[in-house]
Amino acid sequence: MLRYLTAGESHGPALVVTIEGLPSGIPLELDDLAAELGRRRLGYGRGPRMRFEADEIEFLGGVRHGRTLGSPVAVLIHNSEWKTGKWAAEMSSAPGVTQKPLTQPRPGHADLAGMQKYGFVDARDVLERASARETAARVVAGAVAKQLLQHLGISVLSHVTRLGAAAVSSQAVRPGVGDLAAIDESEVRCFDATAESAMIAEIKAAAKDGDSLGGIVEILAYGAPPGLGSHVHWDRRLDGMLAQALMSIQAMKAVEIGEGFTVAGLRGSEAHDAIHWTDDHGYTRDTARAGGIEGGMSTGEVIVARVAMKPLATLNRPVLATVDVVTKLETVSFKERTDVTAVPAAGVVGETMMALVLAQETLRKFGGDSLDELLRNHRGYLDALAQQ
Ligand SMILES: Cc1cc2nc3c(=O)[nH]c(=O)nc-3n(C[C@H](O)[C@H](O)[C@H](O)COP(=O)(O)O)c2cc1C
Repeated sequence: MLRYLTAGESHGPALVVTIEGLPSGIPLELDDLAAELGRRRLGYGRGPRMRFEADEIEFLGGVRHGRTLGSPVAVLIHNSEWKTGKWAAEMSSAPGVTQKPLTQPRPGHADLAGMQKYGFVDARDVLERASARETAARVVAGAVAKQLLQHLGISVLSHVTRLGAAAVSSQAVRPGVGDLAAIDESEVRCFDATAESAMIAEIKAAAKDGDSLGGIVEILAYGAPPGLGSHVHWDRRLDGMLAQALMSIQAMKAVEIGEGFTVAGLRGSEAHDAIHWTDDHGYTRDTARAGGIEGGMSTGEVIVARVAMKPLATLNRPVLATVDVVTKLETVSFKERTDVTAVPAAGVVGETMMALVLAQETLRKFGGDSLDELLRNHRGYLDALAQQ
Protein backbone atom coordinates (compact mmCIF):
# COMPACT_ATOMS: atom_id res chain seq x y z
CA MET A 1 0.00 0.00 0.00
CA LEU A 2 1.22 3.47 -0.88
CA ARG A 3 0.82 5.85 2.04
CA TYR A 4 1.98 9.39 2.62
CA LEU A 5 1.82 11.94 5.39
CA THR A 6 2.69 15.61 5.37
CA ALA A 7 3.62 17.87 8.29
CA GLY A 8 4.46 21.54 8.66
CA GLU A 9 2.83 24.96 8.92
CA SER A 10 2.58 27.59 6.22
CA HIS A 11 5.04 30.04 7.84
CA GLY A 12 7.06 27.47 9.79
CA PRO A 13 10.62 26.51 8.92
CA ALA A 14 9.67 23.72 6.48
CA LEU A 15 7.15 21.16 5.27
CA VAL A 16 7.99 17.49 5.26
CA VAL A 17 6.42 14.59 3.39
CA THR A 18 7.00 10.88 3.98
CA ILE A 19 5.96 8.43 1.26
CA GLU A 20 5.85 4.78 2.17
CA GLY A 21 5.27 1.66 0.07
CA LEU A 22 7.27 2.59 -3.03
CA PRO A 23 9.19 -0.16 -4.80
CA SER A 24 12.96 0.10 -5.11
CA GLY A 25 14.61 1.23 -8.31
CA ILE A 26 12.45 4.21 -9.33
CA PRO A 27 14.81 6.83 -10.78
CA LEU A 28 14.27 9.97 -8.69
CA GLU A 29 16.08 13.29 -8.59
CA LEU A 30 15.43 16.51 -6.74
CA ASP A 31 15.05 18.28 -10.09
CA ASP A 32 11.96 16.15 -10.88
CA LEU A 33 10.34 17.26 -7.64
CA ALA A 34 11.44 20.90 -8.03
CA ALA A 35 9.93 21.02 -11.53
CA GLU A 36 6.52 19.96 -10.18
CA LEU A 37 6.73 22.47 -7.34
CA GLY A 38 7.50 25.15 -9.94
CA ARG A 39 4.35 24.16 -11.86
CA ARG A 40 2.32 24.60 -8.66
CA ARG A 41 3.38 28.24 -8.52
CA LEU A 42 2.11 28.93 -12.06
CA GLY A 43 -0.82 31.12 -12.90
CA TYR A 44 -1.93 34.60 -13.82
CA GLY A 45 -3.69 36.25 -10.92
CA ARG A 46 -1.29 35.02 -8.24
CA GLY A 47 0.38 37.58 -6.01
CA PRO A 48 3.95 38.26 -4.85
CA ARG A 49 3.78 35.59 -2.14
CA MET A 50 4.56 33.01 -4.82
CA ARG A 51 8.05 34.50 -5.15
CA PHE A 52 8.77 33.83 -1.47
CA GLU A 53 7.52 30.32 -1.91
CA ALA A 54 10.30 29.32 -4.36
CA ASP A 55 11.08 25.99 -2.81
CA GLU A 56 14.41 24.62 -1.63
CA ILE A 57 14.10 20.88 -1.15
CA GLU A 58 16.21 17.98 0.10
CA PHE A 59 15.85 14.23 0.45
CA LEU A 60 16.00 13.04 4.05
CA GLY A 61 15.73 9.34 3.25
CA GLY A 62 14.67 6.62 0.86
CA VAL A 63 16.77 7.63 -2.15
CA ARG A 64 20.38 6.64 -2.89
CA HIS A 65 22.35 7.39 -6.04
CA GLY A 66 19.27 8.68 -7.82
CA ARG A 67 17.04 5.64 -7.15
CA THR A 68 14.46 4.72 -4.52
CA LEU A 69 15.55 2.07 -2.02
CA GLY A 70 12.11 0.69 -1.16
CA SER A 71 12.35 2.38 2.23
CA PRO A 72 10.19 5.42 3.09
CA VAL A 73 11.06 8.46 0.98
CA ALA A 74 11.16 11.62 3.08
CA VAL A 75 11.52 15.07 1.53
CA LEU A 76 12.03 18.39 3.31
CA ILE A 77 10.67 21.52 1.64
CA HIS A 78 12.28 24.56 3.22
CA ASN A 79 10.31 27.76 3.61
CA SER A 80 12.60 30.35 2.03
CA GLU A 81 10.89 33.17 3.96
CA TRP A 82 11.95 31.52 7.24
CA LYS A 83 15.54 32.64 6.65
CA THR A 84 14.47 36.29 6.83
CA GLY A 85 13.58 35.76 10.50
CA LYS A 86 10.21 37.45 9.96
CA TRP A 87 8.29 34.47 11.31
CA ALA A 88 10.80 33.19 13.86
CA ALA A 89 9.06 34.58 16.96
CA GLU A 90 5.49 34.18 15.71
CA MET A 91 6.02 30.55 14.68
CA SER A 92 8.54 29.56 17.35
CA SER A 93 8.05 26.05 18.76
CA ALA A 94 9.46 27.18 22.14
CA PRO A 95 7.00 27.87 24.99
CA GLY A 96 5.56 31.39 24.93
CA VAL A 97 2.56 33.43 23.79
CA THR A 98 1.96 35.44 20.66
CA GLN A 99 1.92 39.21 20.86
CA LYS A 100 -0.44 39.39 17.87
CA PRO A 101 -3.32 36.91 18.27
CA LEU A 102 -5.73 36.83 15.34
CA THR A 103 -9.08 36.88 17.12
CA GLN A 104 -11.26 37.59 14.10
CA PRO A 105 -11.83 34.31 12.19
CA ARG A 106 -12.05 34.75 8.41
CA PRO A 107 -15.27 33.49 6.77
CA GLY A 108 -14.66 30.77 4.18
CA HIS A 109 -11.56 29.52 6.01
CA ALA A 110 -10.97 26.82 8.63
CA ASP A 111 -10.45 29.52 11.29
CA LEU A 112 -13.68 29.53 13.34
CA ALA A 113 -14.52 25.81 13.25
CA GLY A 114 -10.87 25.01 14.01
CA MET A 115 -10.73 27.47 16.93
CA GLN A 116 -13.92 25.99 18.38
CA LYS A 117 -12.80 22.41 17.85
CA TYR A 118 -9.25 22.75 19.20
CA GLY A 119 -9.90 25.41 21.85
CA PHE A 120 -7.84 28.28 20.39
CA VAL A 121 -8.38 32.05 20.56
CA ASP A 122 -5.68 32.74 17.94
CA ALA A 123 -6.82 31.83 14.42
CA ARG A 124 -3.16 31.40 13.44
CA ASP A 125 -3.13 28.14 15.43
CA VAL A 126 -5.53 26.82 12.76
CA LEU A 127 -4.82 28.73 9.57
CA GLU A 128 -1.12 27.91 9.46
CA ARG A 129 -1.94 24.25 8.86
CA ALA A 130 -5.22 24.74 6.98
CA SER A 131 -3.41 26.89 4.41
CA ALA A 132 -2.97 25.41 0.94
CA ARG A 133 0.78 25.82 1.37
CA GLU A 134 0.44 22.19 2.54
CA THR A 135 -0.24 21.22 -1.05
CA ALA A 136 3.45 21.82 -1.81
CA ALA A 137 4.19 18.68 0.24
CA ARG A 138 1.45 16.76 -1.58
CA VAL A 139 2.84 17.88 -4.94
CA VAL A 140 6.21 16.38 -4.00
CA ALA A 141 4.48 13.06 -3.21
CA GLY A 142 2.57 13.37 -6.48
CA ALA A 143 5.78 13.96 -8.41
CA VAL A 144 7.12 10.67 -7.03
CA ALA A 145 3.85 8.94 -7.99
CA LYS A 146 4.11 10.37 -11.51
CA GLN A 147 7.66 9.03 -11.84
CA LEU A 148 6.36 5.58 -10.98
CA LEU A 149 3.34 5.79 -13.29
CA GLN A 150 5.45 6.97 -16.20
CA HIS A 151 7.20 3.56 -16.22
CA LEU A 152 3.78 1.93 -16.66
CA GLY A 153 2.86 4.27 -19.51
CA ILE A 154 0.37 6.23 -17.40
CA SER A 155 0.41 10.04 -17.61
CA VAL A 156 -1.72 12.53 -15.74
CA LEU A 157 -2.43 16.08 -16.87
CA SER A 158 -4.86 18.87 -16.10
CA HIS A 159 -6.25 21.99 -17.71
CA VAL A 160 -8.53 24.78 -16.57
CA THR A 161 -11.99 24.59 -18.16
CA ARG A 162 -13.66 27.42 -16.23
CA LEU A 163 -12.43 30.52 -14.45
CA GLY A 164 -15.22 32.63 -13.03
CA ALA A 165 -17.72 33.23 -15.84
CA ALA A 166 -15.24 32.32 -18.62
CA ALA A 167 -15.47 28.68 -19.71
CA VAL A 168 -14.11 26.39 -22.41
CA SER A 169 -16.82 25.32 -24.87
CA SER A 170 -18.12 21.78 -24.44
CA GLN A 171 -17.12 21.19 -28.09
CA ALA A 172 -13.46 22.13 -27.47
CA VAL A 173 -10.75 19.55 -28.15
CA ARG A 174 -9.63 17.62 -25.07
CA PRO A 175 -5.85 17.83 -24.55
CA GLY A 176 -3.77 14.68 -25.05
CA VAL A 177 -0.61 13.30 -23.47
CA GLY A 178 1.73 15.57 -25.42
CA ASP A 179 -0.15 18.78 -24.65
CA LEU A 180 0.99 19.40 -21.07
CA ALA A 181 3.81 21.78 -22.03
CA ALA A 182 1.40 23.89 -24.09
CA ILE A 183 -1.07 23.99 -21.18
CA ASP A 184 1.66 25.07 -18.75
CA GLU A 185 2.66 27.83 -21.15
CA SER A 186 -0.82 29.31 -20.92
CA GLU A 187 -0.96 31.92 -18.14
CA VAL A 188 -4.17 30.34 -16.88
CA ARG A 189 -3.27 26.73 -17.81
CA CYS A 190 -6.09 26.70 -20.38
CA PHE A 191 -5.79 24.64 -23.58
CA ASP A 192 -8.29 26.76 -25.52
CA ALA A 193 -7.03 30.16 -26.78
CA THR A 194 -10.47 31.81 -26.92
CA ALA A 195 -11.39 30.82 -23.40
CA GLU A 196 -7.89 31.74 -22.22
CA SER A 197 -8.32 35.41 -23.24
CA ALA A 198 -11.75 35.52 -21.59
CA MET A 199 -10.27 34.03 -18.39
CA ILE A 200 -7.49 36.63 -18.26
CA ALA A 201 -10.09 39.39 -18.74
CA GLU A 202 -12.09 37.91 -15.85
CA ILE A 203 -9.04 37.96 -13.59
CA LYS A 204 -8.22 41.57 -14.49
CA ALA A 205 -11.80 42.65 -13.77
CA ALA A 206 -11.91 40.81 -10.43
CA ALA A 207 -8.52 42.23 -9.43
CA LYS A 208 -9.76 45.74 -10.14
CA ASP A 209 -12.70 45.12 -7.82
CA GLY A 210 -10.49 43.59 -5.10
CA ASP A 211 -12.41 40.34 -5.60
CA SER A 212 -11.51 36.69 -6.17
CA LEU A 213 -12.49 33.91 -8.59
CA GLY A 214 -13.05 30.16 -8.53
CA GLY A 215 -13.31 27.76 -11.43
CA ILE A 216 -13.16 24.21 -12.73
CA VAL A 217 -10.19 22.04 -13.57
CA GLU A 218 -10.32 18.86 -15.64
CA ILE A 219 -7.84 16.14 -14.73
CA LEU A 220 -7.08 13.38 -17.21
CA ALA A 221 -5.14 10.13 -16.94
CA TYR A 222 -4.02 8.41 -20.11
CA GLY A 223 -2.65 4.87 -20.27
CA ALA A 224 -4.30 3.33 -17.19
CA PRO A 225 -5.05 -0.36 -17.84
CA PRO A 226 -8.52 -1.82 -17.27
CA GLY A 227 -9.07 -3.07 -13.74
CA LEU A 228 -7.62 -0.47 -11.33
CA GLY A 229 -10.00 -0.22 -8.37
CA SER A 230 -12.72 -2.78 -7.75
CA HIS A 231 -16.48 -3.28 -7.62
CA VAL A 232 -16.27 -5.58 -4.59
CA HIS A 233 -16.24 -3.01 -1.76
CA TRP A 234 -17.32 0.61 -1.38
CA ASP A 235 -13.82 1.69 -0.34
CA ARG A 236 -12.09 -0.05 -3.24
CA ARG A 237 -13.99 1.81 -5.95
CA LEU A 238 -11.64 3.94 -8.06
CA ASP A 239 -14.26 6.67 -8.58
CA GLY A 240 -14.83 6.85 -4.83
CA MET A 241 -11.11 7.11 -4.13
CA LEU A 242 -10.64 9.81 -6.76
CA ALA A 243 -13.59 11.82 -5.46
CA GLN A 244 -12.23 11.71 -1.91
CA ALA A 245 -8.70 12.57 -2.97
CA LEU A 246 -9.75 15.50 -5.19
CA MET A 247 -12.29 16.78 -2.68
CA SER A 248 -9.56 16.84 -0.01
CA ILE A 249 -7.82 19.71 -1.81
CA GLN A 250 -8.43 22.99 -0.01
CA ALA A 251 -11.34 25.02 -1.49
CA MET A 252 -12.76 22.19 -3.68
CA LYS A 253 -16.54 22.03 -3.51
CA ALA A 254 -17.55 19.45 -6.14
CA VAL A 255 -16.08 16.55 -8.08
CA GLU A 256 -17.44 15.13 -11.32
CA ILE A 257 -16.33 11.85 -12.88
CA GLY A 258 -16.76 11.88 -16.66
CA GLU A 259 -19.96 13.66 -17.67
CA GLY A 260 -21.55 12.93 -14.29
CA PHE A 261 -23.68 16.06 -13.91
CA THR A 262 -24.67 16.17 -17.59
CA VAL A 263 -25.76 12.54 -17.91
CA ALA A 264 -27.98 12.96 -14.85
CA GLY A 265 -30.31 14.93 -17.15
CA LEU A 266 -30.15 12.57 -20.14
CA ARG A 267 -31.91 9.36 -21.05
CA GLY A 268 -30.04 6.09 -20.55
CA SER A 269 -29.78 5.56 -24.29
CA GLU A 270 -27.63 8.72 -24.52
CA ALA A 271 -25.72 8.47 -21.26
CA HIS A 272 -23.32 5.53 -21.65
CA ASP A 273 -20.24 4.53 -23.62
CA ALA A 274 -21.00 1.76 -26.14
CA ILE A 275 -18.36 -0.99 -26.39
CA HIS A 276 -16.70 -1.88 -29.72
CA TRP A 277 -13.97 -4.32 -30.74
CA THR A 278 -11.23 -4.00 -33.35
CA ASP A 279 -8.38 -6.47 -33.92
CA ASP A 280 -5.84 -3.64 -33.73
CA HIS A 281 -7.08 -1.88 -30.59
CA GLY A 282 -9.16 -4.47 -28.74
CA TYR A 283 -12.13 -3.03 -26.86
CA THR A 284 -12.79 0.66 -27.61
CA ARG A 285 -15.38 3.35 -26.84
CA ASP A 286 -16.29 6.38 -28.96
CA THR A 287 -17.29 8.46 -25.95
CA ALA A 288 -15.93 9.06 -22.43
CA ARG A 289 -19.17 9.82 -20.59
CA ALA A 290 -18.30 7.46 -17.73
CA GLY A 291 -14.88 9.10 -17.36
CA GLY A 292 -13.05 5.82 -17.98
CA ILE A 293 -14.51 4.13 -14.88
CA GLU A 294 -17.30 1.53 -14.72
CA GLY A 295 -18.26 -0.39 -11.59
CA GLY A 296 -15.52 1.39 -9.68
CA MET A 297 -12.84 0.04 -12.05
CA SER A 298 -10.81 1.71 -14.78
CA THR A 299 -11.97 0.58 -18.22
CA GLY A 300 -8.73 1.27 -20.07
CA GLU A 301 -10.12 4.48 -21.57
CA VAL A 302 -8.97 7.95 -20.57
CA ILE A 303 -9.89 8.69 -16.94
CA VAL A 304 -11.67 12.04 -16.67
CA ALA A 305 -12.42 13.94 -13.46
CA ARG A 306 -13.44 17.55 -12.92
CA VAL A 307 -13.14 19.49 -9.74
CA ALA A 308 -14.81 22.79 -8.86
CA MET A 309 -12.93 25.33 -6.73
CA LYS A 310 -14.73 28.06 -4.82
CA PRO A 311 -13.51 31.67 -5.16
CA LEU A 312 -10.70 32.37 -2.67
CA ALA A 313 -12.13 33.49 0.65
CA THR A 314 -9.41 36.04 1.41
CA LEU A 315 -10.19 39.22 -0.48
CA ASN A 316 -8.24 42.36 -1.23
CA ARG A 317 -11.08 44.42 0.22
CA PRO A 318 -12.79 43.79 3.55
CA VAL A 319 -16.45 42.97 2.81
CA LEU A 320 -17.22 39.74 4.64
CA ALA A 321 -18.64 40.12 8.13
CA THR A 322 -17.09 38.25 11.03
CA VAL A 323 -17.04 38.39 14.83
CA ASP A 324 -14.14 38.95 17.23
CA VAL A 325 -14.02 35.80 19.38
CA VAL A 326 -12.92 37.79 22.47
CA THR A 327 -15.24 40.85 22.33
CA LYS A 328 -18.04 39.14 20.32
CA LEU A 329 -18.35 42.41 18.41
CA GLU A 330 -19.13 42.23 14.70
CA THR A 331 -16.43 43.48 12.34
CA VAL A 332 -15.25 42.82 8.77
CA SER A 333 -12.73 40.17 7.75
CA PHE A 334 -9.29 41.78 7.73
CA LYS A 335 -7.87 43.00 4.46
CA GLU A 336 -4.88 41.08 3.20
CA ARG A 337 -2.82 41.18 0.05
CA THR A 338 -3.94 38.00 -1.67
CA ASP A 339 -4.16 36.23 -5.00
CA VAL A 340 -7.19 36.73 -7.25
CA THR A 341 -7.40 33.05 -8.10
CA ALA A 342 -5.48 29.82 -7.57
CA VAL A 343 -7.42 27.68 -10.07
CA PRO A 344 -4.42 27.17 -12.42
CA ALA A 345 -2.28 25.99 -9.49
CA ALA A 346 -5.11 23.82 -8.17
CA GLY A 347 -4.92 21.85 -11.43
CA VAL A 348 -1.38 20.78 -10.57
CA VAL A 349 -2.58 19.70 -7.11
CA GLY A 350 -5.45 17.81 -8.79
CA GLU A 351 -2.93 15.95 -10.98
CA THR A 352 -1.04 15.14 -7.79
CA MET A 353 -4.06 13.62 -6.10
CA MET A 354 -5.05 11.60 -9.17
CA ALA A 355 -1.47 10.36 -9.63
CA LEU A 356 -1.30 9.27 -6.00
CA VAL A 357 -4.56 7.31 -6.25
CA LEU A 358 -3.49 5.64 -9.50
CA ALA A 359 -0.03 4.82 -8.11
CA GLN A 360 -1.63 3.29 -5.03
CA GLU A 361 -4.06 1.20 -7.08
CA THR A 362 -1.34 0.18 -9.52
CA LEU A 363 0.80 -1.06 -6.64
CA ARG A 364 -2.18 -2.85 -5.12
CA LYS A 365 -2.99 -4.61 -8.41
CA PHE A 366 0.51 -5.46 -9.62
CA GLY A 367 2.59 -5.52 -6.41
CA GLY A 368 6.34 -5.93 -6.47
CA ASP A 369 9.17 -4.77 -4.22
CA SER A 370 11.27 -3.46 -7.08
CA LEU A 371 10.29 -1.47 -10.13
CA ASP A 372 11.43 -4.38 -12.33
CA GLU A 373 9.12 -6.77 -10.50
CA LEU A 374 6.23 -4.34 -10.79
CA LEU A 375 6.85 -3.94 -14.52
CA ARG A 376 7.02 -7.72 -15.03
CA ASN A 377 3.70 -8.17 -13.25
CA HIS A 378 2.13 -5.33 -15.23
CA ARG A 379 3.36 -6.76 -18.53
CA GLY A 380 2.09 -10.22 -17.57
CA TYR A 381 -1.37 -8.80 -16.92
CA LEU A 382 -1.45 -6.89 -20.21
CA ASP A 383 -0.31 -10.03 -22.08
CA ALA A 384 -3.04 -12.05 -20.39
CA LEU A 385 -5.64 -9.42 -21.34
CA ALA A 386 -4.51 -9.57 -24.96
CA GLN A 387 -5.19 -13.35 -24.95
CA GLN A 388 -8.75 -12.97 -23.59
C1 LIG B 1 -3.35 25.92 -4.65
C2 LIG B 1 -4.28 26.62 -3.68
C3 LIG B 1 -4.01 27.93 -3.30
C4 LIG B 1 -4.87 28.60 -2.43
N1 LIG B 1 -4.61 29.90 -2.13
C5 LIG B 1 -5.49 30.60 -1.39
C6 LIG B 1 -5.31 32.00 -1.18
O1 LIG B 1 -4.35 32.61 -1.66
N2 LIG B 1 -6.26 32.66 -0.46
C7 LIG B 1 -7.36 32.01 0.07
O2 LIG B 1 -8.20 32.67 0.69
N3 LIG B 1 -7.55 30.69 -0.10
C8 LIG B 1 -6.63 29.97 -0.81
N4 LIG B 1 -6.86 28.64 -1.02
C9 LIG B 1 -8.04 27.98 -0.43
C10 LIG B 1 -7.98 27.84 1.08
O3 LIG B 1 -6.83 27.15 1.51
C11 LIG B 1 -9.24 27.13 1.58
O4 LIG B 1 -10.37 27.73 1.03
C12 LIG B 1 -9.34 27.16 3.09
O5 LIG B 1 -8.24 26.45 3.65
C13 LIG B 1 -10.66 26.59 3.62
O6 LIG B 1 -10.86 25.28 3.19
P1 LIG B 1 -12.19 24.87 2.37
O7 LIG B 1 -12.36 25.93 1.32
O8 LIG B 1 -11.85 23.53 1.78
O9 LIG B 1 -13.33 24.85 3.32
C14 LIG B 1 -6.01 27.94 -1.90
C15 LIG B 1 -6.27 26.61 -2.27
C16 LIG B 1 -5.41 25.96 -3.16
C17 LIG B 1 -5.72 24.55 -3.57
